[in-house]
Amino acid sequence: MKILFIADVFGAPGRAAVEERLPGLRDELGVGFCIVNAENVADGAGVTPRLADRLLRAGADVLTLGNHVWRRREIGPYLEQSDRVVRPANLASGTPGRGVATVAAADGTRVAVVNLQGILFMTTPVSPFEVLDAVVEEARAGAKIVVVDFHAEATSEKVAVARLLDGRVTAVIGTHTHVQTSDARVQPGGTAAITDAGMTGPHDSVIGVKAELAIGRMRSGMPVRFEPALGGVRIEGVVVECDDDGRALICEPLRVPVP
Ligand code: FE2
Repeated sequence: MKILFIADVFGAPGRAAVEERLPGLRDELGVGFCIVNAENVADGAGVTPRLADRLLRAGADVLTLGNHVWRRREIGPYLEQSDRVVRPANLASGTPGRGVATVAAADGTRVAVVNLQGILFMTTPVSPFEVLDAVVEEARAGAKIVVVDFHAEATSEKVAVARLLDGRVTAVIGTHTHVQTSDARVQPGGTAAITDAGMTGPHDSVIGVKAELAIGRMRSGMPVRFEPALGGVRIEGVVVECDDDGRALICEPLRVPVP
């Protein structure tokens, strides 16, 4: 099974790139299952039900989220009823949604997707290390193929979680920084990993935002309303190939310019 993970889709340029290219990419690469991180699709922060539906229609099997999950109020009820959109499992108890989704691929193979959020340099209610074992066991109970989107800031925490889960899941894919790292690998225990899968969106920017706005806020320390940039759009992510037992065989980064 080939799994395509599409990194953080940023704003309308990212969403348009996915809608335009994902169906073709699935065919060209022979992808059996596709996961899309949608946490920045609504103008760069959060996701709305309408945008989530658009990404699912474009060919995503499951959407993952991250620290911007609650930016759009209307997403709460949507997360409650959706079995294809996950938010980090380690949010405050009692909040809407789920951190694990188990979905059948087109060929019937069941794939479990886990979303966790890092705690280093982030505002995260519960440490991922508190919930990780239980969440991974829940995922493994439903599928042999388990993919973890670890949405985190710190490289060290992402490498640590990848090592900790080696041999227990198919892949640990880092998201959130929007800069693709050059460490895509299959670890000794058979778990694919990359520290960060990158960003699907406008790369002529500061991690998706119009550069002058991001720089202006940093220079002045004053609030500046961010807007998604437009240029240099790329789809970024990672392709993981695994066997029927969920053991990763190949892990390759993906960078596709979208003119
Ligand atoms: Fe994020």
